[in-house]
Amino acid sequence: MRRIAHLSDVHTLDPAHRRSNNTRYRFATKFVSLGRPVDPRSRARKLARALEAAKASGADHIVITGDLTEMGDVREFEHFANILDDAGLPPDGVTLVPGNHDAYTSDAGWRRALEGPLKRYAGASATGAGKIVDRDNVAFLPIDTSCFQSIARSAGTFTPDAARAVQARIDDPALRDKSIVLVMHHPPFEGRKNALTEWVVGLSGHTHLLDMLRNNPRLQLLHGHLHRVVDRIVDLGKGVAGRARIFGAPATVDDDDDRPRVRLYDVRDGLLESAGLFAT
Ligand SMILES: [Fe+2]
Repeated sequence: MRRIAHLSDVHTLDPAHRRSNNTRYRFATKFVSLGRPVDPRSRARKLARALEAAKASGADHIVITGDLTEMGDVREFEHFANILDDAGLPPDGVTLVPGNHDAYTSDAGWRRALEGPLKRYAGASATGAGKIVDRDNVAFLPIDTSCFQSIARSAGTFTPDAARAVQARIDDPALRDKSIVLVMHHPPFEGRKNALTEWVVGLSGHTHLLDMLRNNPRLQLLHGHLHRVVDRIVDLGKGVAGRARIFGAPATVDDDDDRPRVRLYDVRDGLLESAGLFAT
């Protein structure tokens, strides 16, 4: 494994959105789109372009870090899967995780999508705590941080089960020489002291996650949710200078200039190095 491509926040819509009589869906998509044009075709085009760019970049593996759909609606998942299928990528080379938007309709939406339209991609995607996608020198750990909640919230959860499972992988001698890459939608937020804000937009369990990153220099994290590029240095304590190990990708849905911004990383000496943005 030499190169990884990172896409995020696709926000796929039901292609029949405009003809839909479902007023709840129409209202909810407008509300959660936060001013983004509610245009299913343009969003589909942006995803198709981004996948083409990822392929052209020579990436050995592609991760898409959540908010694959706008509402977690079954037709949105079907549409997302069709676009992914059309890109002709090897399914075991694509890792998908859900975001908060993918759980706005039902707490079973993601599971049903993996059993249905996204079945081909289930092998390398988030299906349960401790899941590992072993790609030679890199072990990807796709983690589901989504939870069924009101559309007024965008929080996530890093459960104690997930923390225990990640720790077990870190301690696994079989993975000792590999780079371990957590793939999840929500980043471990920092600096939020207000409990209400945490409840509305935070990631529960984030302090545990940061502790693991501090204690394990081989551990790295790819996330979405913030819709922008993030390179975050993990403080190793005791005055030791760390290096960026938490990386965020821009949102596919926000690409508005016909240039998909796909984030790339090269794997060197067991660590991910940002290789910039690839635009065709
Ligand atoms: Fe998003």
